[in-house]
Amino acid sequence: MKILKTPKEAIEFRKSLKGSVGFVPTMGALHQGHLELIKKAREENDNVIVSIFVNPTQFLPGEDLDKYPRKLEADFEICKRAGVDAVFTPNAENMYSEDEILIKAPKVKGYILEGFFRAGHFDGVLQVVNKLFNITKPTRAYFGKKDAQQLYLINQMVKNFFFDIEIIPVDTIREKDGLALSSRNVYLSPKERKRALSISKALKKAAKLSSKTNDINEIKQEMLKILDVDELQYIAFVDREFNYIDKIIPGNTIILIAAFVGSTRLIDNIWI
Ligand code: PAF
Repeated sequence: MKILKTPKEAIEFRKSLKGSVGFVPTMGALHQGHLELIKKAREENDNVIVSIFVNPTQFLPGEDLDKYPRKLEADFEICKRAGVDAVFTPNAENMYSEDEILIKAPKVKGYILEGFFRAGHFDGVLQVVNKLFNITKPTRAYFGKKDAQQLYLINQMVKNFFFDIEIIPVDTIREKDGLALSSRNVYLSPKERKRALSISKALKKAAKLSSKTNDINEIKQEMLKILDVDELQYIAFVDREFNYIDKIIPGNTIILIAAFVGSTRLIDNIWI
């Protein structure tokens, strides 16, 4: 497995590849959720590139950029065992210059929900993914459905900028008890972890109810009864294009939650 440290090395490596390229962008601290993306990329492509880069431009001032878990050696091992051909691990200095051309997330769908509570976050995500796509020139790129709004916006960027890349959504991986895997779960104390479970429980309940009723208010009330979090930022009901909906549309609804448990911000969703 090759370790590529600079965009230049990665571009040269990409030029040497024959056949299709599956690309899995990550911020490291790899868990089973990332492995699922890598596994799919491995199955569907001749070559697999994983990037590991804690992208500073998608963190807001005061967020967890400095304490974000970094486990590079363990991540390399995981990638090697999963049959990855190359890991691209640039640093901020060689990814960014001082006075850059900046990509803006769309005014509405980039600034609702996650984009509202983390204003500018998606500008940073799209900026770095744009760079990563140009460097790795993938045939297919793999993104988790857990970051549903990110997935929607990446698809939008691919359309708007005419990238010839197929975006492959991959289902959220959960612990046995339902907790959605996230690199940020390590911040949770055992007590907080128990309370964090109320998020996936509320979503599961919502999915069950939505087979009986399309009344969003009724479903929301039941979700609120289950949720045991410190600060609920949103419960939202959108269609697959991230338009707010006022009734459940079977086959075209995503129910999303963002909440703090202790000082850890968690997001999760369920696709109906
Ligand atoms: O989902 C993530 O881990 C990040 O937002 C991504 C896509 C790797 C961009 O930094």
